[in-house]
Amino acid sequence: MRSLARTRQSRAPCLTSVPSGGTGGSRHHPAAVHQNGPVDLIEALRTTGATREFTDRPVRDAVVARILDTARFAPSGGNAQSWRVVVVKDPELRVRLRELYLPGWHDYLAMGAAGLRPWAPLNDRAAEAAALASVPPEVSAAAGQGFAAHLDDVPVLLVVFSDLTALAAVDRDLDRYSFAGGASVYPFVWSMLLAARAEGLGGVLTTMLVRREDEVQRLLGAPRSWAVAAVVALGYPAAPPARLRRRPVAAFATVDRIDGPPLAETASPVMESDR
Ligand SMILES: Cc1cc2nc3c(=O)[nH]c(=O)nc-3n(C[C@H](O)[C@H](O)[C@H](O)COP(=O)(O)O)c2cc1C
Repeated sequence: MRSLARTRQSRAPCLTSVPSGGTGGSRHHPAAVHQNGPVDLIEALRTTGATREFTDRPVRDAVVARILDTARFAPSGGNAQSWRVVVVKDPELRVRLRELYLPGWHDYLAMGAAGLRPWAPLNDRAAEAAALASVPPEVSAAAGQGFAAHLDDVPVLLVVFSDLTALAAVDRDLDRYSFAGGASVYPFVWSMLLAARAEGLGGVLTTMLVRREDEVQRLLGAPRSWAVAAVVALGYPAAPPARLRRRPVAAFATVDRIDGPPLAETASPVMESDR
């Protein structure tokens, strides 16, 4: 591990032990993911990416329960904890969820191939419709492969609902797309993924099934007031994660105004002066 990280470990909180055969490594932060010991929190935040390929190794219910037991400490507006989780084990339900997922995945790829940001709230709907009307065959073919095509096979499949009667959607009445309510459930989902990482698991948060909320609610017996927030796949990763690619701080943080000077980039996430 780099000397900085070693120094950090003495002050940063740690995630729990990574069991042997854990998450696999990041080329960028090898020590954080290969060691069988505490995972430095900063390292985990910088190296926990989306995992969509898993080994066949089953994940015990006790492990899933531990993950949820840690994630439940996530923050939520008014501490309302609006989340509800269904662990989907029934093979028929899983197949049905996959079938509901695939059309959305197809449309996502089709819009992306047409140069659109799929379903961006401000998208030109006519441009979206045009993209979906003439999907290149290779895009359609790609949509039937990979993670989406095997969604029913993932070791753990969790559907996360959010009780709309408990959400503080403070932007509800603004004349724009409302998203503040999601902030009361997605930290919980992210905590699940970090807690999973600490158990040696990988996973991915997906939202494609939100498009088919009606059917998902009916399939799993959820009331209309429980919005589908996410479907999370978890399992033991089949391969070490790739290095994460993210924009640097200076590309998104400015001082005083949106057009102000970029916040000076630090050489590292923790400076000596922060101690
Ligand atoms: C709100 C949200 C929705 C997402 N929906 C999906 C999805 O439906 N399907 C999927 O495969 N990945 C989904 N992802 C995973 C993203 O594709 C992934 O986080 C992003 O590409 C960064 O990947 P990386 O961390 O491996 O670099 C979603 C992630 C977030 C945060």
